[in-house]
Order: sequence, then C-alpha cells, then structure tokens
Amino acid sequence: MSLISGKNILLGITAGIAAYKTASLVRLFVKSGAQVKVVMTPAAKDFITPLTLSTLSKNPVFSTFTQDDENETWNNHVELGLWADLMVIAPATANTLSKMANGTCDNLLLATYLSAKCPVYIAPAMDLDMYKHQSTQDNLDKLKSFGNYIIPVGSGELASGLEGEGRMAEPEEILDYIEKNILESLPLKNKFVLVTAGPTYEAIDPVRFIGNHSSGKMGFFIAKKAAALGAKVFLVSGPSSEIVNDNNIEIRRVTSAAEMLTEVRKSFDDCDIGIFSAAVSDFKPKNPYSTKIKKTDNSLNLELEKTPDVLSEMSKLKKNQILVGFALETDNEMENAQSKLSRKNLDIIVLNSLNDPGAGFGTSTNKVTFITAEGEVIEGSLKSKTKVAEDLLNLIIKKHYA
Ligand code: CTP
Repeated sequence: MSLISGKNILLGITAGIAAYKTASLVRLFVKSGAQVKVVMTPAAKDFITPLTLSTLSKNPVFSTFTQDDENETWNNHVELGLWADLMVIAPATANTLSKMANGTCDNLLLATYLSAKCPVYIAPAMDLDMYKHQSTQDNLDKLKSFGNYIIPVGSGELASGLEGEGRMAEPEEILDYIEKNILESLPLKNKFVLVTAGPTYEAIDPVRFIGNHSSGKMGFFIAKKAAALGAKVFLVSGPSSEIVNDNNIEIRRVTSAAEMLTEVRKSFDDCDIGIFSAAVSDFKPKNPYSTKIKKTDNSLNLELEKTPDVLSEMSKLKKNQILVGFALETDNEMENAQSKLSRKNLDIIVLNSLNDPGAGFGTSTNKVTFITAEGEVIEGSLKSKTKVAEDLLNLIIKKHYA
C-alpha cells in the first residue's frame, strides 16, 4: 500500500509545457489510493484540458473563482485548501513561483495555496536560464523557508531545444519524493514490527482439527496500522480469510502453533516490537490420526498435549524488544491479565473480556484495557478494531519512542 493511500491530494497545475505529464500524475495518485482534486490556472488549460483531468481524477476541475453557471456559485478556495492533506503544484512555472513567494493571489490556485494548511510540494518546470536566474533561485529559497518542499528539477532536453536543468520531475519521481518525505515524518520509520494473528489449527486427523473462533482481524489491523506508521512488518498468521496487500508487510501463513513458532523465531531477533495477538491453540492431539477417523465407537478419547507457547518462548529471548501480549478472558479478567503480563515478561498486555458485548472473536469491534508493566491501566470503550490497533500503537510510540 502506498503511503499516500487514503490521502486527499490537491494538485495545482500551472501553464508550462510539462502540464501534459499531469495526466499521468493524476492517474498515479489515484492508482495509489489517493483522492485527487485539481485546481489549475486559466492559462494551464492551453496545455492540458480540464476534461482529461476531471475524468482521471473523477472530480470536477477548478480554475476560476466563480463557476460558469446561472447561479454564479463560487469555488471556495478556503474549503479546497482545508480539504487537502497535501498540495502538489506541478508544474510550477517561474511566474507562479514568484507569485507564491510574494503572497500574490490573483487566481484560484494561488488563493488556495495561501489558504492551505497542509504540506505543499512544488515541482518547478521551466527553461534552464529562467531556472538559473537569481530571482527564481531566490524565490525557491524563500518558498523553502516557508516550509514548502521543493521537488528537484531534472536535467536534459528542454522544450526550448536547449539542454540543462529545468525539467519537471517525472510523475513517478514526484510520487517517490512525496512518499519518502511522508515516511521521514512517521513515528515508526526504521522500526521492525512482528505481529502474530488469527487462530491455529491442530490436526486431529486429515480432515478435522482443534481450533478457535479467531478471525485474525485484530492482528491484520495492527499490521496495517504499523505499516501506515512507517514500520516494516512481519505478519505471521494462522488460518484467516483476512488479506493484506502492502509492500511493507511480509506475511507468512501458518496452520499450527508449532509452525507459528518456527516462523516467529526467524524474525524475532531483528524485531523492535513484537505484538502477539494470535489466539494460539493451547493443546493439540498427541498422536494425530493419519487417516480419517470413522465413527465405529460411541465415544472417542483423544489424548492432548500442550502446544508451544510462542510468546513465552520469545520472552525468554527478549533483549530490547517491546513485547505486547493479548489476554482474552472470561473470568477474573484483571488478575489473569496481570499475571500473564509478568509471567511472559511483557511491556503491555491487551485485555479483552468475552463478557463485553462487541468484544472478542469475529466482530469488527473490540473493547480492551491496556495494562503496562509500570502498572498503568488504561480502559477503553467499545471501538472499531482499527481504532484499537491505532490506540495500541500510539501507546507504544508515546511510551517508547516519543
Ligand atoms: N500465546 C502464544 N502461544 C500460545 C498461547 C498463547 O503465543 N501457545 C500468546 C497469545 O498470542 C497472547 C498471550 O500469549 O498474546 C496470552 O494468550 P492466552 O491464550 O490468553 O494465555 P495463555 O498463556 O495460553 O493462558 P490461558 O490459556 O491459560 O489463559
């Protein structure tokens, strides 16, 4: 998943020949999961049509303060600016750079820029001598000093036929620059997070197993949230119908507790944070049948033996890792959770009680209490599992990385 996924991007297009590349840029943003709105200067329409851009962005394109309809409705630049999570001005001509540097706002794009509170990325594009001109360089320095990000120009053949610096960065380079920039500001950048999720199945015979009702949702949400906060994630999941498609999440699907332990062992040493949300089966048949059991008798006795406790095994290897366990309890909730916290040498335990409606297996919601090794007890209300994942990661960040 791209780091711009889910973000509102306002693309400002000014009147340079590189504007033709913005069709690909809009497409790339949309394909990466962003919502895109375009605001263009009136002169930019000579280089690319609003129809192309509105079709690709699936949104109307704005270029004037008022709309050309009977009601003369106005295009609210303040609203557009506030809608944006980030604004990208590409191509940014020397003329627009100069106006932006000086607070001029004689078109909708400039008024929107002045109203926007979000990060602004500027991709300049012009002929080499215009780019080199001291006034342009001063304007770029000034714009940088305002906190804007300047996406470096490329070098090569220019529309004038001259060779040199001034080409607008390619759409892929613009996206790459923005993603790297977002990653830099994320609290879990350079962190490696290991997550276990889902149930485990312990074979009775080739068709039957001992398992539980865990859907894996909680662990998948934790993995996705950790990746969105900049982490590299290794997700070890038991049988679950949840899916994930994110370059920063490597998933290993396992069936039994023993397989989960094998996969977890591989990456535990390298991880900074281990979050064990899997509902691992505690027992397995000692001697699973190699063929299907027939119902010849009225009863069947299965001898069970303990499965490995993945979390306890890892807590023995713990060095600097932050360890988080889950406790799903039906009685003596607080006591049991606190005992697991110390027994398994955890930093945080997430307690959820099956007595709370909407909490536990299968649902999209959960009601949890975080208990820390320092004795803090943070009780939450009933929330979506995504929000619980976010709260947990924010607590880890606040306690360990703030
Ligand atoms: N856990 C694990 N491997 C196991 C059992 C549990 O990794 N074989 C982890 C779970 O992922 C969870 C924590 O240990 O983070 C607590 O799991 P839970 O089943 O509640 O506790 P148990 O230690 O198994 O104790 P009990 O079942 O007796 O409550």
